[in-house]
Amino acid sequence: MSSNVVWHSHPVDQQTRAAQKSQEPLVIWFTGLSASGKSTIAGALEQILTRQGYHTYLLDGDNVRHGLCKDLGFSDDDRKENIRRVGEVAKLAADAGLIVLTAFISPFRSDRRIVRDMLPQSQFVEVFVDTSLKVCQQRDPKGLYEKAGRGEIKQFTGIDSPYETPEAAEVRLEGGTQSVAESVNQLLEYLHNSNVLKAGYEPISINA
Ligand code: ADX
Repeated sequence: MSSNVVWHSHPVDQQTRAAQKSQEPLVIWFTGLSASGKSTIAGALEQILTRQGYHTYLLDGDNVRHGLCKDLGFSDDDRKENIRRVGEVAKLAADAGLIVLTAFISPFRSDRRIVRDMLPQSQFVEVFVDTSLKVCQQRDPKGLYEKAGRGEIKQFTGIDSPYETPEAAEVRLEGGTQSVAESVNQLLEYLHNSNVLKAGYEPISINA
């Protein structure tokens, strides 16, 4: 950054924007292997929060790589840059007063730490979707594990590129055994207990 760039404070700030939406801004950061269930669970949680009147925004790895990050591949450096950019965008969206959900493999602890440190402690929740590699390989919705196994995709997370398990995620979901509705309920309960959600929270129906 140039030393000639100076931060400009504006009269409307995060608190004002969030107050207008009657909510606490937050980044809910999902991490886990490809096919662990991050996007599905984040999408289902967003649907419930939206129905309950919250203002949300979901940033999804596969989608963001079609635009903002379409110049990036899957080398360690590119993944680092991917997460840095997404972290900055998530921070901007939280500054707009939104509840932001992100679904990126984000395999490296140091990158997740960098994003955590961008935000006040109360505005970052790390959610580890803990689904075993074996289950992800069995699901393989896009056939990518099969391609990686045949050597047609290089540097695939869990195969020939590492995934560093979170050590202190606020929430751990057992993505291989619990249903999407159970995961969403676990998250709603966590958010409720952390005073992020307004009173009146009800668990969703297990078939929702
Ligand atoms: S991250 O590692 O930089 O956080 P991101 O979440 O954006 O990854 O993208 C992961 C998605 O890209 C996967 O769900 C999968 O569909 C696709 N993908 C393509 N190539 C790879 C690869 N080499 N490793 C992991 N995912 C890949």
